[in-house]
Amino acid sequence: MRVFVTGASGWIGSAVVPELIGAGHHVIGLARSDASAAALTAAGAQVQRGTIDDLDILRSAAAASDGVIHLAFKHDIAFSGGFEAAADADRRAAETFGEALAVSGRAFVIASGTLMLAPGRVATERDGRDPGSAAHLSGGPRTRASTAQLTLSLASRGIRSCVLRLPPTVHGDGDNGFMAALVSIARDSGVSGYIGDGSNRWPAVHRLDAAHLFRLALEQAPPGSALHAAAEQGVPIREIAEVIGRHLNLPVTSIPHEQAARHFRWLAHFLAADAPASSTLTRELLDWQPTQPGLLDDLDKGHYFNHTPANS
Ligand SMILES: NC(=O)c1ccc[n+]([C@@H]2O[C@H](COP(=O)([O-])OP(=O)(O)OC[C@H]3O[C@@H](n4cnc5c(N)ncnc54)[C@H](OP(=O)(O)O)[C@@H]3O)[C@@H](O)[C@H]2O)c1
Repeated sequence: MRVFVTGASGWIGSAVVPELIGAGHHVIGLARSDASAAALTAAGAQVQRGTIDDLDILRSAAAASDGVIHLAFKHDIAFSGGFEAAADADRRAAETFGEALAVSGRAFVIASGTLMLAPGRVATERDGRDPGSAAHLSGGPRTRASTAQLTLSLASRGIRSCVLRLPPTVHGDGDNGFMAALVSIARDSGVSGYIGDGSNRWPAVHRLDAAHLFRLALEQAPPGSALHAAAEQGVPIREIAEVIGRHLNLPVTSIPHEQAARHFRWLAHFLAADAPASSTLTRELLDWQPTQPGLLDDLDKGHYFNHTPANS
């Protein structure tokens, strides 16, 4: 297939591109800078210069493809107070792909997150976004959730649309996301903390397993599929803190709920969530079988402790 990938130079995209090329697909990656373009060329992808605000470029690149994987998101803007603006741009991009791919039977796969689902029980692929979810309560993701809804609805317009929900941690060597932030907070504060009794759980996936699922979704997912890239259903946050404490030689401590916002800052809301997610239906549908290390084993490999993350 000729596959147009946005966010191809990002953390997940840079694993999806070799996964697709390795399976014989031709990848055209969107690049907004010389550095991203060079990385895509080095990975063996064709480069389409532009940003996710260049809707004409997105439209023509999608129209010339057999499928689109949309991974770009303005995290730089979203995490500096502009979440809704980033989510609006994301929505316009998804609408544009919907127009370009309509009535074609071609694949359209977007990234979403399991933190948008109901907390406190094991979420499944059949669940929809929930107003009590960690992502919802954190303040900004309503538009993102409705973009996922829009994407699923494109099935009725002849598009093989798919929403691939990622766990809050897509881990691996080079990760600069939530796990790296947690390590950084532990370093700065001198304790490896968890909230309350730390029995609340996060699902997790290694980025190579996630990349494999993106390929399977592109190739095989039926129209209107919601998929879960949860290699692990729920890892207790206290166990994560214990591994971090051991590697940094720091005490492992409970942080009371009322002090969590001061201690964990922007991460507190997410870290308090008990948000396990199942991937049973995804595994059955696509025969997805994760093969990479689980989160605790990956933390134990040590790479999270050898560098200081940029977003600390
Ligand atoms: N990582 C996780 O744990 C996780 C969990 C849940 C959901 N997700 C979602 O999965 C998707 C991929 O995440 P990621 O971790 O790979 O993110 P990432 O590492 O921040 O990569 C973001 C990608 O988007 C591109 N991008 C940003 N702004 C752009 C713009 N204005 N125009 C064009 N491209 C732009 C970046 O390009 P440059 O390389 O040029 O900066 C990069 O390729 C996102 O939708 C994210 O929200 C991720």
